[in-house]
This record gives sequence, structure tokens and C-alpha cells, in this order.
Amino acid sequence: MAETRLAELPRELKYIRYEHSLEAEYLPRIRALISKDLSEPYSIYVYRYFLYQWGHLCYMALDPEDSSLVGVIICKLEPHISHSPPTLRGYIAMLAVSAAYRGHGIATALVKMAIEAMKERNAEEIVLETEETNVPAMRLYERLGFLRSKKLHRYYLNGNSAYRLVLLLKPVDPDADPENMALDDSDLIR
Ligand SMILES: CC(C)(COP(=O)(O)OP(=O)(O)OC[C@H]1O[C@@H](n2cnc3c(N)ncnc32)[C@H](O)[C@@H]1OP(=O)(O)O)[C@@H](O)C(=O)NCCC(=O)NCCS
Repeated sequence: MAETRLAELPRELKYIRYEHSLEAEYLPRIRALISKDLSEPYSIYVYRYFLYQWGHLCYMALDPEDSSLVGVIICKLEPHISHSPPTLRGYIAMLAVSAAYRGHGIATALVKMAIEAMKERNAEEIVLETEETNVPAMRLYERLGFLRSKKLHRYYLNGNSAYRLVLLLKPVDPDADPENMALDDSDLIR
């Protein structure tokens, strides 16, 4: 059944950071929310790969009325060794907002929280891929300062192309090779 989009949010949402003690309660809901928009669902191991190591970079939006999960962002942060010297690179792996709740700035709030958490941990850049036809995602990331670094032709299993987007958090070394920035393939394993 199609979800009806809410003209206005009925109440203020609650934003919380994921922690391991919440796994039993929230992991099934995170999977359900993200799987809705994927042509091919990720296995449980993909979620655990991110949440076990970088649960502190996962934020959730809850409707306080019934504690339902209406939005989530999942990220990682690690040295990117193909840069010389290595850079500390954040990666936004998954972002989803429940259809009825879209268009109210929930994803923007989640992305901002993740950016702040990665900045606090000295991230030098944040990258992600998004489908070129995903207008809401492209709009929100470009509004937050992400730049298109590369077009990835036929990147997704459905044959669609993607853009790699990058948010630079530290001043760029003028001598750095631009070809060496944010150009590797996705680290995401299906
Ligand atoms: C992308 C997604 C997370 C955005 O969530 P959201 O909470 O609606 O996002 P926000 O309200 O913060 O911002 C969305 C932006 O897209 C715009 N937008 C929304 N729907 C749009 C549409 N159909 N066409 C054009 N722009 C649209 C909004 O106006 C807003 O931009 P603005 O603030 O500059 O006006 C949500 O649509 C979603 O879950 N999609 C499916 C999963 C997905 O694509 N994830 C991203 C993978 S990288």
C-alpha cells in the first residue's frame, strides 16, 4: 500500500545515536526501512559490519508517539590508504527516510549529525555514491556542500549510473593530485 506523505510533521521527532544495546530492538527496523528502497536487500552481515565498528556514526529519527523508526543514517570512518599520505575518510553507506515523512528535513538533520560526528573524529573528507536520478538525495547533499567528484557509469545492479560525491573537511593541498581524490570504487559489499 502506498504511504501518504504527511503535509506537516505531527510532532517533533526524537534523534538518537545507535548503540549496541539497541541492536535487538532497532536492527530489524533499520533493515526494514532501508530494504524498502533497494532493488536487492543487503544481508544482515553488511549491517553488522558497519554497526559493530561504527555504531557511533549511526543516527536514527524516531516518532515519539510510538517510537517507530522514520529515518536512519549509517556510516564508517577509516584511513584511506591509497592516498599518500593516507587520509581519514568518512563514508555514508546508507540513508533512508520513511516515505510518509520525506520532505521535512529529516535526512538533512541525520546527515548533519553524521558529518559533525565524523568531524569530531578528525575526518578529512566524506564520500558517498548516489544514483544520478536520485534528485532528493543529490539536492540535499549538494546543499550541504558535497561536490560531484566522479560519474560511475552503470554502477548499480539495475544498470543505473551514480555520482561519487565528496565533502572536503580540511583545506586541500594545492600540490595534491586531483586524480587521487575520492576515486576508488565503493567499499560496500552486498
Ligand atoms: C533521499 C531521502 C533520504 C531524503 O529524505 P528527506 O528527509 O525527504 O530529505 P530532506 O527533506 O532533508 O531533503 C530532501 C531534499 O530533496 C527535495 N526533494 C524531495 N523530493 C523531491 C523530488 N521528488 N524532486 C525534487 N526534489 C525533491 C526536498 O525539497 C529537499 O531539498 P530542499 O531542502 O533543497 O528543498 C529520501 O528521499 C529517501 O529515503 N529516499 C530513498 C532512499 C535513498 O534514496 N537514500 C539516499 C541514497 S544516497
